[in-house]
This record gives sequence, C-alpha cells and structure tokens, in this order.
Amino acid sequence: MNLSCLILLWIGDQYKALVIGSSGAIGSAFINQLRNDVNCSLVVSLSRTSMPGFSLEDEESINQAANILSVEAPFQLIIDATGALTIDGNGPEKQLIALSSNYLSRSFQINTIGPALLIKHFLPLMDTTNRAIYAKLSARVGSISDNHKGGWYSYRSSKAALNMILQTAAIESARSRPNLVFSALQLGTVASKLSAKFVSPEQCLSADISVQGLMQSLDGLMPKNGAYFIDYQGHNIEW
Ligand SMILES: NC(=O)c1ccc[n+]([C@@H]2O[C@H](COP(=O)([O-])OP(=O)(O)OC[C@H]3O[C@@H](n4cnc5c(N)ncnc54)[C@H](OP(=O)(O)O)[C@@H]3O)[C@@H](O)[C@H]2O)c1
Repeated sequence: MNLSCLILLWIGDQYKALVIGSSGAIGSAFINQLRNDVNCSLVVSLSRTSMPGFSLEDEESINQAANILSVEAPFQLIIDATGALTIDGNGPEKQLIALSSNYLSRSFQINTIGPALLIKHFLPLMDTTNRAIYAKLSARVGSISDNHKGGWYSYRSSKAALNMILQTAAIESARSRPNLVFSALQLGTVASKLSAKFVSPEQCLSADISVQGLMQSLDGLMPKNGAYFIDYQGHNIEW
C-alpha cells in the first residue's frame, strides 16, 4: 500500500500538498512520493529557484510567494524541508571558543526565523475544515533533554528555538484552527548536501525510506493543543 494514501483517510477526499525547500534531498523525496500518490491532487514545489521563489532571509519574498500560491489554497499538507548546517563555509562548532556571532545569527536566521515567517505567511493557506498538517524538518539535536554529547551550538540551539516556535504556533492555532496538526520531524541521518561533510553515504538512511516513514508517522497524528516532535519511525522525541 502506498503509505502516503493514508492521509486521505483523515481528510476525506483528495488532498493538496505544498513542499517548501523542494530543491533539497528531503524536499525532493517528499515531492516524488507525493507525485506518486493518486490521492494527492496537487503537489506544489517551492524553493529558492522555483517560480515563485523565496529566501528564508527575506520576509517580503515569503509574503509574495504565499500571495501567489494562495490561488491553489487550501492545502491539507505543508512540509517545510528547508534548513542549513554549513553556512558560508562555516560548520558546526565543537567548543565555545569557536562561537562566532555571524554563524550563530545566520543559523537562527535560516533554521528558526525563516521557518517561523513561513508559518506566519503560509498558515492562512491551510484548510480549516478538514484535518490539515504543517510539518517542519527539525533535528534530534534540537532536543534539550536528548543533548548528551554537547557541541554544535548554533545548529542545536537554532533547532531548539524552532521547536519552541512550532509548539507556540500549535497552541495558538488550536483555538482558531482546531483541525490543524503541527509537527517537528526528525528524519534520521540521510545523505544530502547538508550532511555530506559529517557522515559517509554508507552510514545514511535512504531519503525515500525516511520520507515514507515520516509520511506514515504524520498520518497517525491527531490535532492537539501543542506540537508533536516525532521521528521517521513514529517515535516521540522529548523536547
Ligand atoms: N540530512 C540529514 O541527515 C538531516 C538530519 C536531521 C535533520 N535534517 C534537517 O532536514 C532538513 C532538510 O535537510 P536536507 O538534508 O534535505 O538538506 P539539503 O539537501 O541541504 O536541503 C536544504 C534545503 O533548504 C534550502 N535552503 C537553505 N537555505 C535557504 C535559504 N536561505 N532560503 C531558502 N531556502 C534555503 C535549500 O535550498 P537550496 O537548494 O537553494 O540550497 C534546500 O532546499 C533541514 O531542516 C535539516 O536541518 C537533516
């Protein structure tokens, strides 16, 4: 059975999906899977190079993309698969001595602030009548309680702050959009531009397997007064 079909069971008829960050390894795996789902009537790709395009560091570009794509609304599924680990050649820091204001702030701009502004501008495009899902690729390293190794200050803390944005948006939306599910997602280690410097391909899970697991995990989520933080096997991750 095509796992992504399961979403249909929740929302009634055909569903429409938007994948933001569709040029990345995970974003493109979502696009492929959704295109192969007969119940997904429309898959819209949005990236820096799509038309319209956007930058996470330019709110007006996000606003414009949302305005243009509003003709396709309502969406029942939005996946934000954007993110960055190495920025302008700077990678994750192992020690406090390596912290730089520039890398810290760019990490927050790309992993926290940009995704928060995406929620602000794209939430109005989501279905309010049927169950709808807003899912954002986070990372297990953004879990404060799971941090036993240290290191990676900027990336970890930008993902932890992202998780707080998702939780807060979910609480606010529960009042006005009771059918909306918010989830932070952890995919496992997948080969991509982002992970290439840090893991060998043999250590990685295939993007297709990870995305298939994430779709199945998302499908089991009920709207609640808060966000989920789950991995591709459907396990809950402590914040
Ligand atoms: N791969 C892993 O093992 C792993 C593990 C845990 C979590 N994650 C998370 O999963 C998500 C997807 O990662 P990935 O592995 O698929 O990485 P990826 O292949 O490098 O994709 C990253 C995506 O983010 C976009 N992006 C980066 N900076 C942007 C900006 N300023 N404005 C607009 N778009 C921007 C990229 O656009 P361009 O193509 O234009 O650069 C691309 O579409 C990220 O949030 C990452 O933190 C990944």
